[in-house]
Amino acid sequence: ESILIQPKLVDLAHYSHYMQKEIFEQGSAVANTLEERITNNCMLEIETFGEEAVEIFNQVEAVRILACGTSYYAGMVARIWLESMGIPCEAEIASEFRYRNPVVPDNALVVAISQSGETADTLAALNQASKLGYKYSLAICNSPFSQMTRVTDLVLHTRAGPEISVASTKAFTTQLVSLLLLMIALAKRRGMTVDEEAEIVSELRALPSRIEALLQMDKDIAELSDYFADKEHTLFLGRGTHYPIALEGALKLKEISYIHADAYPAGELKHGPLALIDAKTPTIAVAPNNHLLAKLKANIQEVRARGGKLFVFSDSGTPIKSDELIEVIEVVKSGPFTSPIIHTIALQLLAYHVAVTKGNDVDNPRNLAKSVTVE
Ligand code: AGP
Repeated sequence: ESILIQPKLVDLAHYSHYMQKEIFEQGSAVANTLEERITNNCMLEIETFGEEAVEIFNQVEAVRILACGTSYYAGMVARIWLESMGIPCEAEIASEFRYRNPVVPDNALVVAISQSGETADTLAALNQASKLGYKYSLAICNSPFSQMTRVTDLVLHTRAGPEISVASTKAFTTQLVSLLLLMIALAKRRGMTVDEEAEIVSELRALPSRIEALLQMDKDIAELSDYFADKEHTLFLGRGTHYPIALEGALKLKEISYIHADAYPAGELKHGPLALIDAKTPTIAVAPNNHLLAKLKANIQEVRARGGKLFVFSDSGTPIKSDELIEVIEVVKSGPFTSPIIHTIALQLLAYHVAVTKGNDVDNPRNLAKSVTVE
């Protein structure tokens, strides 16, 4: 069973921690998750999901995603993806959903996302969804024999391999890849063109090598850790699909480095968090060069004007320059659908190195368990 994986049975190889090993395994974890799912001419092999799945995908008219923690952030990204394809979608924190009675749309698919497949709140939320009358259910799960995979109609395995570190890394990025596959499967019957499909799939095909290229930045990112090690607070900003990535970056930092970190959609800055900015509170901006960049640039200036230090995780096209208050970290350029994954890995590396610099127990942070099997 997933929760019984013995850490000692998974060799650390030359790595110092499981988290570090798992961060560096992400290129192959993503490649494994994509294995057989896509063709050489960049189409989704929808049949590999099984006959029942294809039948259900043809019926689905709305999606409700349920998950906790990092897995929930994957759901938040997917919600934006699915609605951009014309598929109504909500993403919910499982521990909230389980006590609510929302209206259930017709032919709705409930999607539970979980690394362990044993998270009590997510299992309870699935149970609530079935009581409420959700017609179909799917688990996106990393543990093949877990409880969750036994209670849903369909299962999509993230083939990340065992994840030992309490801080989730490769499970999250393979969840995002799986959710992109699901998006294509559902969007195909809503008029997604062959060209659109090919564009997203070719991004996915390029992803493992882009991840390897990003991981080459490990040393550069490690150099930032001294700056953060003595800070008490950090603010993360992002927009669109990169707002959940800002949340994930903040969660990683607080989990293992014990630095208080908050993440906001950048447009919310003026509505409160700007009051926190001072020379001792750095801001991390997740800033790919996309249609929201002009807005984010304005938010970056708002922080800078208050004397706040900024670390801007850009990509090769982002026209933001480093100066005495802004440090631009240029990550590997990726397409619009996979850039959240690339930016996530940069933030994982940052959190990892800050925790190492502080001498923390990276793989087993205080007060936390890998699998939260109680409410
Ligand atoms: C992530 O780093 C956390 N340790 C935690 O938020 C985790 O993602 C959450 O408990 C959900 O776990 P699951 O994916 O196994 O359901």
